[in-house]
Amino acid sequence: MRTQVAIIGGGPSGLLLGQLLHRKGIDTVVLERKTKDYVLGRIRAGILEVGMVDLMREAGVGDRMDRECFVHDGTLISYGDDLFGINFKDHTDTSVVVYGQTEVTRDLYDAREASGAPILYNTEDVAIHDADGDAPHVTYRVAGQDHRIDCDFIAGCDGFHGVSRQTIPLSVRREYEKVYPFGWLGILSETPPVNDELIYASSDRGFALCSMRNANLSRYYIQCSLSDSPDDWTDAAFWDELRRRIPASEAEALITGPSIEKSIAPLRSFVTEPMRWGRLFLCGDAAHIVPPTGAKGLNTAASDVHYLYHGLLHRYADGDDDGLERYSERALARIWKAERFSWWFTNLMHRYPDQSEFDLKMQQAEIAFLRDNRDAQAVMAQNYVGLPY
Ligand code: APR
Ligand code: PHB
Repeated sequence: MRTQVAIIGGGPSGLLLGQLLHRKGIDTVVLERKTKDYVLGRIRAGILEVGMVDLMREAGVGDRMDRECFVHDGTLISYGDDLFGINFKDHTDTSVVVYGQTEVTRDLYDAREASGAPILYNTEDVAIHDADGDAPHVTYRVAGQDHRIDCDFIAGCDGFHGVSRQTIPLSVRREYEKVYPFGWLGILSETPPVNDELIYASSDRGFALCSMRNANLSRYYIQCSLSDSPDDWTDAAFWDELRRRIPASEAEALITGPSIEKSIAPLRSFVTEPMRWGRLFLCGDAAHIVPPTGAKGLNTAASDVHYLYHGLLHRYADGDDDGLERYSERALARIWKAERFSWWFTNLMHRYPDQSEFDLKMQQAEIAFLRDNRDAQAVMAQNYVGLPY
């Protein structure tokens, strides 16, 4: 088989890139290790920056999102019972939207299938060959049969555990990582959200987040120990702990119910450099991970897709390689800023096992500064809604 761009990984990065290219007449094949149902079973953050919203529309998959999403003009932050808001609209003239990543992925799958462009599931042993030469190819196995795809370029959209990043030799690859000493225990429940806005809550007992998917579907998280397992937490224990970490006014308003999903995610900051090796381009979680505080995971993947899409368009439309040559530099410039914001917001809001009294005072002072200072709020708002591409 031959294609112009082989896309490894059928998560949001690979599917979005594939859909954008398809609309411009550029052929792609998507190889996905799992099944569609498996990919759609993963629950991730649900905040989209305007750049991601625009890309969904440009890819022709924005209709349901535009109908069903909720626009959020700000967010709430609390420390104990002290609750304050940051208004994105005032500071940036922009908002974010709440639309679950699962729904984004579902819309992209539907579009891919409707377009007839190839997507292969259950691909095993995917391997990238000759990415540093002029004629790369990808090999893989499905149901015991070996296959080969020849291509012009390879998009490595296969997430943190994929093969694409590992294909870049260690002599050129540099990785930067920070692992945080706690996790997030998250639940989804068919209950109305406690507040119209998200609440990022810091408390003596640790961090909590009140988020939502729609008027009757809430997503809540609490900071937990890395040694915890979801089975250690009954629903009642989760709700009790959440109530203790959010302001009393919100705890009283909280409507609880049975969880329909419960899981623990570790928190990590990670970046690999460079994001391009010859004709291989890393995109999304394959190249970088952020802790979920601030919901930058999908949104950083989106800016990579933007730079790669435009680089490929210029290459195929007018033979101009500049966008591809500069892909890594451009993508990383924005990624590092989103990494900084996610790291800052994580440090600001969580309790650390080895935190001293002094460290705690610094956190309290910084939250108070954010509450009282318009410029600090403007910086927060600019980062939260997403820096320009
Ligand atoms: N071969 C083929 N597919 C693979 C391979 C492989 N060797 N390894 C992984 N995959 C697939 C995974 O099964 C997954 O469906 O690649 C896909 C990668 O998807 P994601 O992990 O969702 O990564 P990405 O598309 O970059 O999306 C970024 O997802 O993890 C969140 O917070 C992150 O929201 C961000 C978004
Ligand atoms: C979520 O709704 O899952 C969510 C929202 C905001 C975050 C992280 C997760 O910062």
